[in-house]
Amino acid sequence: MQISKLTAEEKLNLLVDFGMKVSNEIKLDALLDVVATQITKILNVGRCIIFLKDSETKELWSKIAQGKGVEQTEIRVPLNGKSEIALAANTGEIVNITNAYEDPRFYMGVDMVTDYRTKNLVAAPLKNNTGKVMGVFQVSNKNDGTPFDKKDEGILMLLSAMAAGAIEIARLYEDIHVSQLETIYRLAVTAEYRDQQDTRSHLKNISIISYLLALALGLDQKDAELIKNASPLHDIGKVALADNILLKPAKLTDTEYETMKSHTMYGGRILEGAHSKVLQAAHKISLCHHEKWDGTGYPNRLKGEQIPLEARIVSVADVFDALCMDRVYKAAWTPDEAFRHILEQSGKAFDPNVVEAFKIIFPSVRKIYRTKRPVTSTMAHHTLYNAVPLKEKN
Ligand SMILES: [Fe+2]
Ligand SMILES: [Fe+2]
Repeated sequence: MQISKLTAEEKLNLLVDFGMKVSNEIKLDALLDVVATQITKILNVGRCIIFLKDSETKELWSKIAQGKGVEQTEIRVPLNGKSEIALAANTGEIVNITNAYEDPRFYMGVDMVTDYRTKNLVAAPLKNNTGKVMGVFQVSNKNDGTPFDKKDEGILMLLSAMAAGAIEIARLYEDIHVSQLETIYRLAVTAEYRDQQDTRSHLKNISIISYLLALALGLDQKDAELIKNASPLHDIGKVALADNILLKPAKLTDTEYETMKSHTMYGGRILEGAHSKVLQAAHKISLCHHEKWDGTGYPNRLKGEQIPLEARIVSVADVFDALCMDRVYKAAWTPDEAFRHILEQSGKAFDPNVVEAFKIIFPSVRKIYRTKRPVTSTMAHHTLYNAVPLKEKN
């Protein structure tokens, strides 16, 4: 299929199809993949590379590359260097090169690292709706061997304009998503700063374990990611606890322990009424991660499926990782010992289904612990798991 040989109706159909495909995708990577596939198809070219501007490094880098030799290679081209890619980005004009190796504007570096011979190419700027250049589309070597003509240039500029809006929206979504996750993580770290028991590695581990558990339980990728991202906030309520309880270098009295338990209620209050899905999941987790399947947990003595699934998942991950950590009052358990404890607590502290899922993921979990040294707490601390019969080791 060659665009110049298509009828006007066929061209229109291709463009409508392109517009629909790009507007249906909000994830940037997937969107650029669709754009590159469609451009390769419509212009019938051997290679299509989408370069995005990296303002920090002042480079253009190949976010998506399709074609021989480029798919696994990240290509970086300096914005202030001599290349047709930088030229298109800096001038905002399309660059059409009909005989690459004879043209001084052509940058051979990409061919050299990808073992490819460019015959002809077009580099088209990718502009947002204010005209600012966000990147460059580069297509090369038409499959029919002819150089790119004015019609090809026009089509590429049109596709570029259609894709630019979708790319900008996808980037905004990505920015919002990343900043939301970062805020959540920083919030969790805030709670961790006051409570040396919950180290960053603990937050990371329960996040990974909760994610694997959710997938093993059959939750879809989106819901599993929600739990993964919300789980670090499980103890956010600890920010509301007084230092004399949170930092007490000795065993808590019964009254103090009752106060300590209230971190679940505080967590619930802090996150109550959240609008975002991830904070709604975090609300359930922070409020219910100490509830037990048999109804003996706290704060509300919920039982079985009254406990939100998110919290049933995170409670297994949280206890498992806490057992595997060194504390001043106990040495770290081995992952196998902690695993046995989880199995023993099936139907008591933990949802039997979650424990079954834990059996499935345990080989992967064990690998995480094999590669790292146990975390040593420098502060004397009580444990929130003193309901768990912690074994003393020599
Ligand atoms: Fe907790
Ligand atoms: Fe924890």
